[in-house]
Amino acid sequence: MVDRLTSVDLLNQDLRGEHQAIVHYLTHAWTVIRSFGGAVEAIARDEMRHFKWLSHAIVALGGMPDLSPPDPLPLLSGAEALDYDISAEEEAIRQYRDHQKTIDDHRLQVLLERIVVDEEDHRRQFMILREQWQQWPGQAVVEGPQLTQESVHPFQAALKEEYEGILTALLQSFFARPHYDIGLRAEDRAIDLMKHLGWLGEALGAQGIPVTWSLPETHNGHESRGWLQEILNWSEEHMPHLAPLVARAIQHQRLDAQMARLGGWTVGPYPEGGYREWMS
Ligand SMILES: [Fe+2]
Ligand SMILES: [Fe+2]
Repeated sequence: MVDRLTSVDLLNQDLRGEHQAIVHYLTHAWTVIRSFGGAVEAIARDEMRHFKWLSHAIVALGGMPDLSPPDPLPLLSGAEALDYDISAEEEAIRQYRDHQKTIDDHRLQVLLERIVVDEEDHRRQFMILREQWQQWPGQAVVEGPQLTQESVHPFQAALKEEYEGILTALLQSFFARPHYDIGLRAEDRAIDLMKHLGWLGEALGAQGIPVTWSLPETHNGHESRGWLQEILNWSEEHMPHLAPLVARAIQHQRLDAQMARLGGWTVGPYPEGGYREWMS
């Protein structure tokens, strides 16, 4: 088992990977693969949540999240960008699996497993986008007036300030709470459920069936897991593009429940306030 500081180093390596993925995916979504912008921005939002979970875990271990910006991006065509993003996901999966074995702490292992569930689905989604690009490459669209070197400058300067502001505010947010947990908070679980709702709602909408906005008459956790399993079995045959998303939702439920059972680590208001393990 590696010590706490080695775990912090490994998690920081993962954090830098997430940071790089966010920056690359957003850049690709805004430039060379704009026709897939929405889908790729949704993947970047998942990476932002991974970034937050890893930062909280690092702070909970008494460490400092490494928020240094990633190296400059290579200039790529649309097809190259998608190839690059597929390899980024593959590398992330390999690294998380490796760290899961090395870190040897069950709570962190479950957190990394929760992240890997998303990365595997990202790889799948990027591979589909890559295939679609092959058949129907998007066009680079230039809208509005051409920017001159002079008019571009304020944009670039303002973007730098926005980026710096984001990193500063995030770092403050990681240290602003009285204690930190490893794992997902109730708010994170709500966001997961909103995503699941979206996947199911879109699938229904595509069939012309609106979502019924009402609550179940009885609540039973086993029952709701059963519904997803039923939808998975059905979609495998009738709506294959939905099946991997439902499988991902089932994995989310399983790992969220596991994390809730494991409880968390907490530290004092500041990292120098000391590290103590809190068994709940
Ligand atoms: Fe990620
Ligand atoms: Fe990913």
